[in-house]
Amino acid sequence: MMAQFELVMLLHFSRVVGQPVFYRLVQPVSLLVTTKCTVRTMSSLSEIPKSMKAIRVEKNGGPEVNVLKEIPVPQPKDNEVLIKVEYTGVNFIDNYQRSGLYNRPLPYTVGQDAVGTIVALPFSAALPSTSLPTLKLGQRVLTPVGESFAEYLVAPVGKVAPLPDFVKPEDGPAYATTAFTAAALVKESYPIQKGDWVLVRAAAGGVGTLLSQLSKHLGASVIGTTSSPEKAKIAKENGADHVLLTTDSSESNVKKLLELTGGKGVHVVYDGVGKDTWEEDFEVIRPKGTIVTYGNASGPVPPFAPLKLSPKCLKVTRPTLGPFINDPQDFALYANFIFDTIKAGGLKSTTYKVYDFSAEGVAQAQTDITSRSTIGKLVIKVA
Ligand SMILES: NC(=O)c1ccc[n+]([C@@H]2O[C@H](COP(=O)([O-])OP(=O)(O)OC[C@H]3O[C@@H](n4cnc5c(N)ncnc54)[C@H](OP(=O)(O)O)[C@@H]3O)[C@@H](O)[C@H]2O)c1
Repeated sequence: MMAQFELVMLLHFSRVVGQPVFYRLVQPVSLLVTTKCTVRTMSSLSEIPKSMKAIRVEKNGGPEVNVLKEIPVPQPKDNEVLIKVEYTGVNFIDNYQRSGLYNRPLPYTVGQDAVGTIVALPFSAALPSTSLPTLKLGQRVLTPVGESFAEYLVAPVGKVAPLPDFVKPEDGPAYATTAFTAAALVKESYPIQKGDWVLVRAAAGGVGTLLSQLSKHLGASVIGTTSSPEKAKIAKENGADHVLLTTDSSESNVKKLLELTGGKGVHVVYDGVGKDTWEEDFEVIRPKGTIVTYGNASGPVPPFAPLKLSPKCLKVTRPTLGPFINDPQDFALYANFIFDTIKAGGLKSTTYKVYDFSAEGVAQAQTDITSRSTIGKLVIKVA
């Protein structure tokens, strides 16, 4: 009873003085109280500032609308951790949100994946029990969610994984959104079987390099498409057995692909390019195959009637990462699959370039990723 009263007072005090001060002044006492009754409070490292730098978008537009702002450090809820960000990853989706193709309420902090250190977390009673090691204060972690172009971000405890020692921090962002996406595509959107023929579009890109590596690791024969001989070399280094250049005609590429697959076509197309490659996907897929359209690098695919699938009895799926990892158990399975595959030599990071944590650095990274000039993963060094 007494503990509950103390707790109410402490929570009230935390609201009055603000959370950072609360952590510094009151947290040792709250630790005592909350170990007695399971309540919503947290443990934290002491030096959390009140404000931080973040890249914000306040209006839709081109890369120039990214601005560096001083904003309050986010306050974690009782199921969230607070992470001090070291590196964050550049994702194509950052452009869709900034331009307005994907609706995101303004203003917002850019980004969605990070490597950093846990500086506040709920007591262990609130941490989900999964196949991942328990989260700890001061631990280096990765997450594929959160407003990450910032010095601090909050992420749900069920979507944070300790970063293994064998992963360099600057390589971590490649193993966040891009690797989780690639893993979900090869495990669930179309579960690859040994001996399958797989077509990976943009095979030298962030997701594409990892998709090719994972497909190869799972025993598939991989055909990649890309736009230059330099990128074709990268695609081959990342698991593509054959590469078709998109600078060649579609007719010639379809012919080559059918020759390679004994006239049958591929079992699955993983297509993050979208509009420009959509129709060709229907020519290269074999009967009963699966088209996984997971991105819009060249624009969204057009609406289509289900009858389009009938001649070859096809499946089309349009996945997005979120639902695959909403359950902490699923998140843990994917994290372990990624880390185990790295350990087994089946997955390596493709960090291409590290950019400054500034409005100019972010604008440059976003300009580069849409220019088709990049390979692998682009990263921002925050601290
Ligand atoms: N569904 C999900 O949950 C999810 C998650 C992550 C990413 N994605 C999607 O996956 C795709 C790839 O993302 P990423 O971050 O890894 O990017 P990326 O592949 O590194 O870059 C995009 C690549 O797309 C190709 N491309 C073809 N036509 C293009 C055009 N008109 N403009 C720009 N690029 C074009 C280019 O490769 P070539 O020069 O080789 O053709 C380019 O390098 C994006 O559409 C992204 O939104 C989806």
